[in-house]
Amino acid sequence: MILYRSPTLKTKQAISPVATMAEQDWFVTNEGQCREAEVMPQDEDLLRPYRLYRFLTDLEDILERVQDDQVRLTLIRPLVRRLLNSSEWLQLNFLPPDPTTGWSILMLYNEPDFPITIQNVVWSPGSVSPIHNHATWGIVALLSGQEKNTFWQRSHTPDHPDRIQPVGECLLNPGDILCLMPEAIHQVEAMGDEPTISFNLYGETNFNQRFEFDLEHRTAQVF
Ligand SMILES: [Fe+2]
Repeated sequence: MILYRSPTLKTKQAISPVATMAEQDWFVTNEGQCREAEVMPQDEDLLRPYRLYRFLTDLEDILERVQDDQVRLTLIRPLVRRLLNSSEWLQLNFLPPDPTTGWSILMLYNEPDFPITIQNVVWSPGSVSPIHNHATWGIVALLSGQEKNTFWQRSHTPDHPDRIQPVGECLLNPGDILCLMPEAIHQVEAMGDEPTISFNLYGETNFNQRFEFDLEHRTAQVF
């Protein structure tokens, strides 16, 4: 089954259609352990589009009802898959990557007083992100391209309280969904010759606990 259709990139760099698409869900613990998660069957009403406002309503209900982030991710993940399958426009709206930074963010939803952020992120081929956590739960659905995620774990010493060490990798293909716990530390790299495009959903960020990590100096900076 093809999950996502390949979007049409609005830049000079065309994206080749993806012939076969994986469909795998991944869950990353606070310690950076990445494990396969079951792709849950969906009880979809195929005659009724699952629109963004319905998704947001369902999301708000879950967040009010459930406090545990792992359970939240388990409940929200299939809704993201359903949303992307039903509302194609969400896959088709993104910005070309900034030639200086190699990435772009298009905010799709960010309402004051409702702690949810939805954005489409593009990385140009070969771009590598800083090593970071998000200090909130997060869901990343890859729409196009291939994205390598490297996961890290805190490994402090008395002299270096922010020392980290790598603990694993995961290669995301279009159709894959990655769930991140708030303290999960990762780094993404756009693999291959095509930009990566991903749909990203985040909860309420605790900005005091969101860090970028410097491997060389074994430090962490709030960003
Ligand atoms: Fe991230």
